[in-house]
Amino acid sequence: MSAPHSTLSLRDRLVVALDVPTAREALALAERLSGRVGMLKVGLELFCAEGPAFVRDLQAMAPVFLDLKLHDIPTTVRRAMEAVLRLDPRLINVHAQGGPAMLEAAVEAVRAHRDAGGRTELLAVTVLTSLDREALAALGHAAPPEDLALAYARLAQQAGVGGVVCSAWEAAAIREACGEGFHRLTPGIRPSGSAVQDQARVMTPAQALKQGATWLVVGRPITHAPDPAAAAEAIVAEMQV
Ligand code: C5P
Repeated sequence: MSAPHSTLSLRDRLVVALDVPTAREALALAERLSGRVGMLKVGLELFCAEGPAFVRDLQAMAPVFLDLKLHDIPTTVRRAMEAVLRLDPRLINVHAQGGPAMLEAAVEAVRAHRDAGGRTELLAVTVLTSLDREALAALGHAAPPEDLALAYARLAQQAGVGGVVCSAWEAAAIREACGEGFHRLTPGIRPSGSAVQDQARVMTPAQALKQGATWLVVGRPITHAPDPAAAAEAIVAEMQV
């Protein structure tokens, strides 16, 4: 269910998080970034505010990663996936925590979509980086976050999911356990010399690629830059390993 990432150019591997509240702002950014980056990430805030029609407009400018992190009972997730797959996003994701049956339901929906000519690939979110050891313990997980992330990656792979969203710090271990063809999409990327903001465990673009990231998610270092197009170009240049 996944394309080999060796076929992706460095530019293809850069995903820009459009963490802005309105379609107007997102489309303005997309216009400046079109042709310079691989994908645009639409998160829950923007999708809830602007809906599917806006995603269609955005897709005229670049492929879209719909970062909706679906998590519900298997039937509900399958139906929600079927609805959202009508947009044919390049990437879509669910929470690995939803368990094997939910992951399989999502995989079935994506397989049917691809069999009908769609291009969407499915990723699973491992452990939210907002959950530290203490928060995981409160949820009944004794294992450290990195062990849990690896366990969730294995679970997702067994269910037929094409890859995971994970920290770049976990990418090498996940590549080792699940193989090169199982994708790793990593947020928390900061070009050298840029502000870390609220991210805790960051990596530079080149470091993250070396650790085995298939796709790098970069938000504010591009979207808050005075010239987002130039910032994106500089990051693509920095991705040369
Ligand atoms: O602005 P910045 O580069 O920090 O944006 C990173 C993007 O990746 C945001 O959309 C954020 O929600 C997302 N993300 C993250 N860490 C995760 C999962 C998603 O930063 N573990």
